[in-house]
Amino acid sequence: MKLRRLAVFASGGGSNFQSILASWKAGGHPLEPVALLADRPSAPVLDKARAAGLDTAVFGKGCWSEDAPRLREVLDWLQERSVDVVALAGFLRRVPPELVAAFRGRMLNIHPALLPAFGGAGMYGHFVHEAVWRAGCRVSGATVHLVDEAYDRGPILLQRAVALDAVDGPAEIAGRVLQVEHELYPEALALLAERGITIEEGRAIPCRASR
Ligand code: GAR
Repeated sequence: MKLRRLAVFASGGGSNFQSILASWKAGGHPLEPVALLADRPSAPVLDKARAAGLDTAVFGKGCWSEDAPRLREVLDWLQERSVDVVALAGFLRRVPPELVAAFRGRMLNIHPALLPAFGGAGMYGHFVHEAVWRAGCRVSGATVHLVDEAYDRGPILLQRAVALDAVDGPAEIAGRVLQVEHELYPEALALLAERGITIEEGRAIPCRASR
């Protein structure tokens, strides 16, 4: 199956969304961002997506809870847009198992640390960088992984480390890591679309040689 059409799920400012979009616009990226889903109407990423002419939607309460009564609406919305791949980019809801299953092997998440360290429930955004700062780490980084039912634990696709020499606090860590995220996420998405990924003993292995 050729993977061509991308939906991004985001909750916040959307700088990762923008880096993915910029990569597509620059040419040569195999995945076209066609849809942006947010979980709250005030998410600034929505205006960025609308300005770029993407289809947008807000799916809030009822779509992401344990029983997720409105999950069918999300699945239909994605299917109507022929979405092949989903990228979680600063999306702060847990994705229900049914949606994970529908996009198994085709849903990625970016996390602003080197998983499995500093991941899991409550570890998102500035909380991650504050924990890294408190732990006195000399490196941090970014991880792109396949999404499965275990939060922040799906097979790792790409990681890049960031040296934390002479940083003066969590905000500076966040800035350095975010810069790396903006390179890493488009790369990881291209890897998935161009080569395909198999999972062997919990490890993500790119399949075909790069074209
Ligand atoms: C990014 O740093 C992303 O890695 C993080 O939220 C930020 C969103 O920024 N995601 C998580 O912490 C998920 N656990 P953005 O809206 O500017 O892309």
